[in-house]
Amino acid sequence: MVPFRMRPMNPPVTSWAGRRVWIIGASSGIGAATARLLRQHGARLALSARSGAALHDIANELANDLASETATDQPHGVTILPLDVTDAAAVIEAAQTLRRLWGGIDLVLFAAGVYQPMRAQDIDPVAAGAILDTNVKGAYNVLGATVPMLRAQGQGAVALVASVAGYSGLPKALAYGPGKAALINLCEALYYDLHPAGIGVYLISPGFVATRLTAANDFTMPALITAEQAAREIVRGIEGGEFDIHFPKRFSRMLKLLRLLPYRLYFPALRRITGL
Ligand SMILES: NC(=O)c1ccc[n+]([C@@H]2O[C@H](COP(=O)([O-])OP(=O)(O)OC[C@H]3O[C@@H](n4cnc5c(N)ncnc54)[C@H](OP(=O)(O)O)[C@@H]3O)[C@@H](O)[C@H]2O)c1
Repeated sequence: MVPFRMRPMNPPVTSWAGRRVWIIGASSGIGAATARLLRQHGARLALSARSGAALHDIANELANDLASETATDQPHGVTILPLDVTDAAAVIEAAQTLRRLWGGIDLVLFAAGVYQPMRAQDIDPVAAGAILDTNVKGAYNVLGATVPMLRAQGQGAVALVASVAGYSGLPKALAYGPGKAALINLCEALYYDLHPAGIGVYLISPGFVATRLTAANDFTMPALITAEQAAREIVRGIEGGEFDIHFPKRFSRMLKLLRLLPYRLYFPALRRITGL
């Protein structure tokens, strides 16, 4: 019997060789690990984050000293474009630099993000605004700077790193969770417009990953994986043309099921699981 295979929701990637990939949030954690993996696969990389020094270290490591601190491209090398995603003008400038250097972009991976636990008893609008500025407005800044270019090219893709924390309300995630829920919804809404235009849209929802972002968590993180494992899941998902790239499956599938429960069952279940 021939196994039933669903058609991929995005054009599959059969080779990364020479693919022009811009990773935003590449200075540490998931973004840096994905940069390392894609570099091994032969992709042409541009790396962004606020910390130019950290980007430079990674680029040096990746390109065997081929990288430059400025936005000068090296054939099959690594381009460094330090920026703050909350600065729309800086993001536009970086995208224009890449258009000049590369002539286009094949994949934009938005992996920038910040996290701060927040509960109702210490709700802080300023801190919440800062989280949403980076995690959500930052994504709009990147999309605003790149989607017109991708549409003009008639090919390419955008990938947004959301989180399973966006599936449904979780304790201590008063600002982070709603921001990630916004990114999930944003990817879904983008798909209607970009898929018919030949542009891929990847929604990436990791569970717990051991990075700087989760280092301060004071609880045992279930199904914790490494940034390298996360990068492998992301790259595998994009290669397969998946829209909904979530992992580790043993955790993300459970949360997907929990959100189907009626609220009167959902809340006690989450309290029991998290102990919060
Ligand atoms: N770790 C987890 O368990 C987990 C789970 C689900 C989703 N995620 C998401 O995965 C993404 C990557 O997080 P991570 O775990 O790899 O954490 P991380 O190691 O702290 O990496 C976050 C990256 O975002 C960059 N960044 C933060 N604010 C920025 C800004 N304003 N402008 C430009 N870049 C900025 C950071 O670089 P600079 O500080 O140098 O700017 C860094 O490169 C985030 O969106 C996070 O929400 C993480």
